[in-house]
Amino acid sequence: MKERVNFGSKIGAILAAAGSAVGLGNIWRFPYETGNHGGAAFIFIYLICIFLIGLPIMIAEFSIGRHSRANTAGAYKVLAPGTPWKYVGYMGVLAGFLILSFYSVVAGWTLEYTLQALSNGFSGMTQSKEFTLFFASFSSSTFRPILWMFCFLIMTHIIIEMGVKKGIEKSAKIMMPALFLLIVILAVCSLTLPGAGNGLEFLFKPDFSKVTPKVFMGAMGQAFFSLSLGLGCLSTYASYFGKEANLSRTAISVGIIDTFVAIIAGIIIFPAAFSVGISPDAGPSLLFITLPNVFQLAFGDIPLLAYLFSLMFYILLALAAFTSTISMHEVVTAFIHEEWKFSRRKAAWMVTVGCIVLGICSSLSFGPWSDFHLFGLNIFDFLDSLTSKIMLPLGGMLISIFTGWYLDRRIVWNEISNESKLKVPLFKAYIFILKYIAPIAISLIFIKELGIL
Ligand code: TRP
Repeated sequence: MKERVNFGSKIGAILAAAGSAVGLGNIWRFPYETGNHGGAAFIFIYLICIFLIGLPIMIAEFSIGRHSRANTAGAYKVLAPGTPWKYVGYMGVLAGFLILSFYSVVAGWTLEYTLQALSNGFSGMTQSKEFTLFFASFSSSTFRPILWMFCFLIMTHIIIEMGVKKGIEKSAKIMMPALFLLIVILAVCSLTLPGAGNGLEFLFKPDFSKVTPKVFMGAMGQAFFSLSLGLGCLSTYASYFGKEANLSRTAISVGIIDTFVAIIAGIIIFPAAFSVGISPDAGPSLLFITLPNVFQLAFGDIPLLAYLFSLMFYILLALAAFTSTISMHEVVTAFIHEEWKFSRRKAAWMVTVGCIVLGICSSLSFGPWSDFHLFGLNIFDFLDSLTSKIMLPLGGMLISIFTGWYLDRRIVWNEISNESKLKVPLFKAYIFILKYIAPIAISLIFIKELGIL
């Protein structure tokens, strides 16, 4: 059998995993979820979810992937041959494919907005109505959003075809530092705006009277989506980790980077929004309607600054989305390549073409097909709900049960301690979380999201 490829370096592995985690979830979803759930108290609970439940599940995914050295469905066939556990893997692959198809639609929008920012298309607009109209007419049109989604998937395809080392790892090593640089510059600019303090207060001064069970559930769902957990994305990446990679340290690094980017995204957006008196709870449209308006208003006196700020922001968003689409594409490509024995190239094309077709349906559901409903939702919202409300929590729960209850404890120990070479002071606590806390907490979100509670 051919030697399976690995990431070339530890830092490459960390950046690739962080690239998967950092995405639209951090810069688009986190701010609007925070806005909708009342600010600092939500963030506080979110942090607990990330570090108490998210990281242990991430380490579980890493252990499964590195030990089996296989794609996510293949991993269960190696670790639990002849059992139905492989269906957890199949569900992950399907979820990865579905998420990639609608995620690419929003990722495509970021390209349109980057182009608008580049050609200074927002500069003439002054009223929020104009931004709303712009977004509505763009997202509901037939061809342009599809074209951008197509471009985004082809870009993703190119990186995947270049392979794990030359494509995924190398692109992460270039894009992630660029992303950090952009995000820090933007945060500094935003903080210098008059009235920025109100935005910071909203972000950092918790008002615990606003905490309801819904806030808790929202925080947990957000933690899963943002850390790329639940579908074997990080286990696929971990199958390319070297023997010397320190799984718990890698997970902590990814968790810290992901949280850092989400909080800084908040620091960019809320001070800017507050300084021009725009409400933080605008919902999903925050990024595409409210924000371009905020940039024009906040920096309106200095047009060059408004121009650069929005351009940098949308480039940042596109970069973040790009490293995430790459990771979802890899989940499905590795599966088709290894399980169905197609060449990597053919496997990658199957994923790309399939996602383009499904992506077209998602994109059209904002316009010509908006009346077509499945369970009362348009195609985009249906796929979003099906994956993030059902498949991801279910996958996360099953992964923690698999690692905590089914998998031989020695395998877990050997993976986390690198065959006892590393000290793992919290091993018992870690197993306890996987066995009890994570499954119970997740089944609570699950039940809640399904509306049973
Ligand atoms: N975490 C990414 C984001 O924040 C999205 C993502 C990539 C994802 N891979 C995933 C979400 C796997 C869930 C599962 O945008």
